[in-house]
Amino acid sequence: MVTIIVGAQWGDEGKGKIVDVLASQADIVARYQGGANAGHTLVCEGKTVVLHLIPSGILHEHVRCVIGNGVVIDPVALRQEIAMLESLGVSVRGRLFISHKAHVIMPYHKLLDQAREQQQGIGTTGRGIGPAYIDKYSRVGIRVVDLLDRAVLEEKLRINLAEKNALLENIYHTDRLDVEAIVAEYLEFDRFIDEYVTDTTTLLHTALRDGNRILAEGAQGALLDVDHGTYPFVTSSNPTSGGACTGLGIPPTAVERIIGLAKAYSTRVGNGPFPTELHDATGELLRSIGSEYGATTGRPRRCGWLDLVALGYSVMVNGITELALTKLDVLSALPVIKVCIGYRIGSQRLKGFPVDTPTLMAVEPEYLELPGWQSSLDGASTFEDLPLNARRLIELIESTCNVRISLVSTGAQREQIVRRT
Ligand code: GDP
Ligand code: IMO
Ligand code: MG
Repeated sequence: MVTIIVGAQWGDEGKGKIVDVLASQADIVARYQGGANAGHTLVCEGKTVVLHLIPSGILHEHVRCVIGNGVVIDPVALRQEIAMLESLGVSVRGRLFISHKAHVIMPYHKLLDQAREQQQGIGTTGRGIGPAYIDKYSRVGIRVVDLLDRAVLEEKLRINLAEKNALLENIYHTDRLDVEAIVAEYLEFDRFIDEYVTDTTTLLHTALRDGNRILAEGAQGALLDVDHGTYPFVTSSNPTSGGACTGLGIPPTAVERIIGLAKAYSTRVGNGPFPTELHDATGELLRSIGSEYGATTGRPRRCGWLDLVALGYSVMVNGITELALTKLDVLSALPVIKVCIGYRIGSQRLKGFPVDTPTLMAVEPEYLELPGWQSSLDGASTFEDLPLNARRLIELIESTCNVRISLVSTGAQREQIVRRT
């Protein structure tokens, strides 16, 4: 049985924490898209671990971790991550499985990403994600399986570099890259990656047949989805739940639960429309209490109120069967909490969530104001332990988005979780 964990906003909803919590009841955790643009934070026994590529189940010794075909893998980042985990005493040997079909991020992808960013102003992470997916869909990408054969790697690199060097030199006016140096560097990656590479599609299907419980871990969030998000201010993959099927090679019929993750407020890193963004002291307060700084780039995250129009859209597009509400504790200090329940342009109330940027830029949010609870959520483990006004907020989200909240996260630590029965 497969449970998909999907970010329901603009990323950084706490996917790392929730996957880590749920992994105690899982056999496999499998990442299905994105790359090292993701930063998933786990806090366990006082230690903070930030993962970019390795699935967030890795701290549980019994869990097997899969990096699926839909992920674009940066071997430099992967190697650093494995070394970081080993320095913490976490071994990935025999537990990490990398799809031979996954595409590899090359040095020119990062250079092109950074060069294009100067013109486009998306606010990308600069990790080469867009250019790597462009190559995948142009059918010139280099896959993990290509690393295993020197002749194939060299030939594909030569073809790619002829084009990329022309772009880098003539369009973006940066330095050329040297084929030999890249071949040497990536052949070396082969030596370290080899033991992890396998046919993960077959591995997952065998696991399904054996009755294993699989968590499919998304990166980013639905509103950053290249099809369903706030295009062009999106990432270049499909974080939405459908991406789990293509990104892992599992059928939709294997999926039983789709858990959407939403923060009790909103954040966004990078550019693009954000109707409930706060440019005032409350926005700063959310940023400082919620430590809203990018786990990958360190950039301050833009902060704003919870947006139930956007969340309702996300519930619909992903087919979310239940929500996990995270970072509820961050609101504890506020006397009044606002929640967006509709969009207006002038006197006209919009139906649904407009995904075209000019309209979304123009909307004015309509807010409901709720009294805060102004008390700590520490020690809460059941729904009834939560303050009345916190429960009212939860019930408002449930009734507006027509979905049940089954988990509430009240802090970054693994133990700070309320499970609703
Ligand atoms: P992800 O990308 O969705 O995995 O989220 P990030 O790790 O980028 O950002 C979430 C941040 O919030 C991390 O620093 C987490 O440690 C932290 N966090 C997760 N859940 C909670 C929570 O319920 N309360 C608080 N205060 N912090 C949380
Ligand atoms: P996790 O998995 C938040 C944003 C970037 C930028 C846009 C495109 O930690 O939630 P890209 O480098 O992907 O081409 O950048 O997407 N972005 C994220 N924002 N969390 C993430 O991942 C993100 N990954 C990419 O800031 O606006
Ligand atoms: Mg993150």
